[in-house]
Amino acid sequence: MVHPIVKYGQRVLETPAATITDFDDPELHKLVADMFDSMYAAKGVGLAATQIGIGKRIAVVDTTTGEDPSAKLVFINPEIIGKEGAQTGEEGCLSIPGFREQVTRSNKVTIKAQNAKGEWFEMTGDGLLARALQHETDHLNGTLYIMHVSPLKRDLIRRKIRKMQKLGEWG
Ligand code: NI
Repeated sequence: MVHPIVKYGQRVLETPAATITDFDDPELHKLVADMFDSMYAAKGVGLAATQIGIGKRIAVVDTTTGEDPSAKLVFINPEIIGKEGAQTGEEGCLSIPGFREQVTRSNKVTIKAQNAKGEWFEMTGDGLLARALQHETDHLNGTLYIMHVSPLKRDLIRRKIRKMQKLGEWG
């Protein structure tokens, strides 16, 4: 089931999400499937549960946007445990549509997370995958990518969004 994407301004996006402890819950598996559906419908490469209004530490990533089924990744209770190098590139967020900014991130990261069965695993990725892992892990900590741009740019984005909110053009 496709859920609407929560947009910037909703409290859930800036609130740290809750740890998942019950992996036998059938709702968890339904939620993960819904997150993939919602991410593909929105043409994103990553989605955090907070972006569909659910404050739980779950993120899904697919840097191939559905082209390669083996690229479907689920991260529950993820934590970045290693970082290397730097990359600067354009970044956007489904919750802040219409904006893209240059963001500097680590070029290579190692993430530790649980899969949908509750098993812990580690994964190392670089480039776009590393960027997505950092972006989605940030989401689950209540941090949006605009916190990684200059305060001046951030204020400009916020002002533009406020204007759209007043005009009823922002969900
Ligand atoms: Ni995002």
